[in-house]
Amino acid sequence: MSKSKSDTTKKQNFEPKIVAFLCNWCSYAGADTAGVSRFQYPPNIRVIRVMCSGRVQPNFLLEAFHRGADGVLVGGCHIGDCHYQNGNERAMERVEEAKKFLELLGIDPRRVRLEWVSVSEGIRFKNVVEEFTQELSEMGPAIPK
Ligand code: FES
Repeated sequence: MSKSKSDTTKKQNFEPKIVAFLCNWCSYAGADTAGVSRFQYPPNIRVIRVMCSGRVQPNFLLEAFHRGADGVLVGGCHIGDCHYQNGNERAMERVEEAKKFLELLGIDPRRVRLEWVSVSEGIRFKNVVEEFTQELSEMGPAIPK
């Protein structure tokens, strides 16, 4: 088997691991809504519930990649809906900060995604997870083995 064919086969079989930091009040509840509504989404995500997306510090993302994640999703409330007023605005700053660090480490910043999902948006949560899983599958492992 040629090397490129072997690489293609590896990518086809690749299942990305996604760590998802979801805020308790909106995105986690949105994920719950997706589950209750029986919207099926890829089982690639490992959810970590945080009280607010603003709690997710850049080192959380670095640690996730260090521990083998291929992508990190940060989910929060829509702007104006954060239960701690402006935690999601803080999250935007922190995610941008983390992306810069990751790029310096050779990790594609597209492997980090920030999304707003409300409690009623189960279908949106499903779509985000599907789309992100697809993108990461095409990219292959974050750190090649
Ligand atoms: Fe959801 Fe702050 S509580 S982003």
